[in-house]
Amino acid sequence: MSMRDVETIKNIVREHTSWRGSCLNMIASENVASKAVKEMLISDLGNRYAIGFLHNRFYSGTRYVDELEGITTDLAKKVFKAEHVNYVPISGTMANLVLFNAMTAPGDVVTALSVIDGGHASFRETSKIHGVSLVPLPFSMDLMNIDVGEAEKVIARVKPKIVLLGASEILFPHPVREIRRLADEVGAIVAYDSAHVLGLIAGGTFQDPLKEGAELVTGSTHKTFFGPQGGIILSKGRFASEIDNAAWQLVNNHHVHRVAGLSVALAEFLAFGKEYTAQVVKNAHRLAEELHDVGIDVLGAKMGFTRSHQVIFKAPNNNGDATAKRLEDCYIITTKTPLPIDKTEEDCSGVRLGTQEITRLGMVEDDMAKIAGFVKRTVIDREDPMAIRADVRNMMAGFRAVNFAFESGDAAYKYVSI
Ligand SMILES: Cc1ncc(COP(=O)(O)O)c(C=O)c1O
Repeated sequence: MSMRDVETIKNIVREHTSWRGSCLNMIASENVASKAVKEMLISDLGNRYAIGFLHNRFYSGTRYVDELEGITTDLAKKVFKAEHVNYVPISGTMANLVLFNAMTAPGDVVTALSVIDGGHASFRETSKIHGVSLVPLPFSMDLMNIDVGEAEKVIARVKPKIVLLGASEILFPHPVREIRRLADEVGAIVAYDSAHVLGLIAGGTFQDPLKEGAELVTGSTHKTFFGPQGGIILSKGRFASEIDNAAWQLVNNHHVHRVAGLSVALAEFLAFGKEYTAQVVKNAHRLAEELHDVGIDVLGAKMGFTRSHQVIFKAPNNNGDATAKRLEDCYIITTKTPLPIDKTEEDCSGVRLGTQEITRLGMVEDDMAKIAGFVKRTVIDREDPMAIRADVRNMMAGFRAVNFAFESGDAAYKYVSI
């Protein structure tokens, strides 16, 4: 190994950063962080441990971490209107693992959406690890939502320990109030995985699961919530010690630079979250309408397409994989996704787009019409990708800044060297 190898590595990351800055980044689970958040991520905190609880750490040297976490906890409780928050999990998947570990015992039953109906693989994998049986919650493709009538039968039959709501493909608010009523009949806990919609919840532009009857909410802090990559658990106060103990035991090292970044993002959300998330949802709705109008088979038409940051469409020939690859050739970055019509979760007949990152760059409804035009040229007209790529790059040249942050004019896709 030599300095040349280090330069090679740096160049790969430089090229990645510059390339993604010339793309329309529309993966529904990503976002861009502000300059202040990025500063926290390259701070000395990234080299430190703070095992234990606030003011009661196993290692020395944490006086400033305690100060930081005191502020972070207060901010998080305010932003999410939660009695208790735990940001120890370093990802949404970890947050689900903590939830299962804290609230279930081997042999218990959990009901949640299957992957084909929008659920996340972590529901299944965490169940396996913890010896829990996972029973699918019924889904209605007509409503693009949980089928409450059928769910009633399943909940009454399997008497789950937890009914877990929330999903990876989530166009509309889930029926939390209705499920709360059904769960009460069998003494089940209602939890909600808000990985995707955490930011929308904080901004008040989506349902608030805690207010509607959920007791625990897991989530990711880097999708519609524009913090650093990480996980979080919000809950009623009575679950605090079970969640905190499980989190520390499972995670151990919770990456304190990430907590500092989260803290900054929470402050940004308090100031700008409402305005930002309102625009995210307006953009998603307009994008869905425009795509529908140019002949793309957008899901959820009967229900108004979407009330979240996501737009999902059925790919030509049900081939989401080929469509996502063709879009990438045109510098439009999306995700293939399984749909309820698919036989297996590998079939992926759909494509999912999210408007959260492009909204943070300052895009508004009229920009969505342009994007729908690019998608039509790619997916329907099958134009030469080189021509579309050039137009996408031109459009992106006008969106370099991170908005909804205290310091405007941040270079969204700038490689930072020290
Ligand atoms: C519903 C849901 N839960 C959990 C996760 C996992 O989150 P993370 O990627 O932060 O581990 C995802 C990821 O997209 C998700 O969609």
